[in-house]
Amino acid sequence: MTLLPGLLDTEAIRKDFPVLDRQVHDGKKLVYLDNAATSQKPRQVLDALNEYYERHNANVHRGVHVLAEEATALYEGARDKVAEFINAPSRDEVIFTKNASESLNLVANMLGWADEPYRVDHETEIVITEMEHHSNIVPWQLLSQRTGAKLKWFGLTDDGRLDLSNIDEIITEKTKIVSFVLVSNILGTFNPVEAIVRRAQEVGALVCIDASQAAPHMPLDVQALQADFVAFTGHKMCAPTGVGILWGRQELLEDLPPFLGGGEMIETVSMHSSTYAPAPHKFEAGTPPIAQAVGLGAAIDYLNSIGMEKIAAHEHALTEYAVKRLSEVPDLRIIGPTTAEERGAAISFTLGDIHPHDVGQVLDEQGIAVRVGHHCARPVCLRYGIPATTRASFYLYSTPGEIDALVEGLDYVRNFFG
Ligand code: ALA
Repeated sequence: MTLLPGLLDTEAIRKDFPVLDRQVHDGKKLVYLDNAATSQKPRQVLDALNEYYERHNANVHRGVHVLAEEATALYEGARDKVAEFINAPSRDEVIFTKNASESLNLVANMLGWADEPYRVDHETEIVITEMEHHSNIVPWQLLSQRTGAKLKWFGLTDDGRLDLSNIDEIITEKTKIVSFVLVSNILGTFNPVEAIVRRAQEVGALVCIDASQAAPHMPLDVQALQADFVAFTGHKMCAPTGVGILWGRQELLEDLPPFLGGGEMIETVSMHSSTYAPAPHKFEAGTPPIAQAVGLGAAIDYLNSIGMEKIAAHEHALTEYAVKRLSEVPDLRIIGPTTAEERGAAISFTLGDIHPHDVGQVLDEQGIAVRVGHHCARPVCLRYGIPATTRASFYLYSTPGEIDALVEGLDYVRNFFG
């Protein structure tokens, strides 16, 4: 058994995750290394979901009966937990969405329908990066097509980091918003927030951060980030699917227009016009993801009971070990930073000229679950001249033994394809 400094007691933690006991393909032990796509869920979250549906299920903010009040208290209690988890100055700055993609689309649409000084139009510019997930590219392309705003981006260095050498030409007085990923889902790169935020603030641009691959893995402090918006999703951090978060600065949420209209986001409605509820409700039209938010609250309790600093240290140790072990595999090329510094726990690679889909399939036959493809970040594959990658990604329950299994699995893949 490999022991590394900083590791969590995974033997105890894994007992909380029923699915990790599974066997697949005729008795092969499941080695789940697809955590950047979605995390597994601990029993504490599954129990909270069950308890919610068995005892409290009702619609929120709408009823005077006991169940409606209990459901509302649980849903709003989850908002409190998120606010504390990300050190938000106010719970009213936490908007529940469906996922991080919806959170990012919401920001793009808020700005797209805004008046001055936020309005995005043909005289303004939007800045993203070449390592964004499609969810932080396509909404801005749509906004650019609709408004005529120019879409610009930071390119990548050969070692998978942002090329900020031309930062003053990319972020200019015309820039309205800079939207970038904190930790890349494909490269694993941890981006230099301070330098980008400083330049954006110099020119008065707003900053939106996609923290989907950061929030599950490290302490997240939206005040320290000094961004205007931060988006992430629940399902990558032990919560159910179907709930995402957009945090936004209060004064912006007060000023910016809603995107979706419907029930519960209004103050008054007549046949001619409507006025809107204060944030966050202004941005939560219709029945929200109630049970999912309650599950997210339970997931936050669970992660806090272990400690985000400790989770970050565990993943750092695993990443360092994985980078070392993977570098020993002949013909393996890591796409992204090749040290454990300034990177997250998702490692993409190619293996000689074996197609990643074949790598993934042969690994799966051995019980090893990884993601293959362009990982919804196709411009990154284009930048490095590859069709796809194989990606292994770790979480608080991952072990060095699973990394050893991956390396053995890759040896098997190489032999299999001669
Ligand atoms: N964004 C998720 C991933 O990177 C789905 O796999």
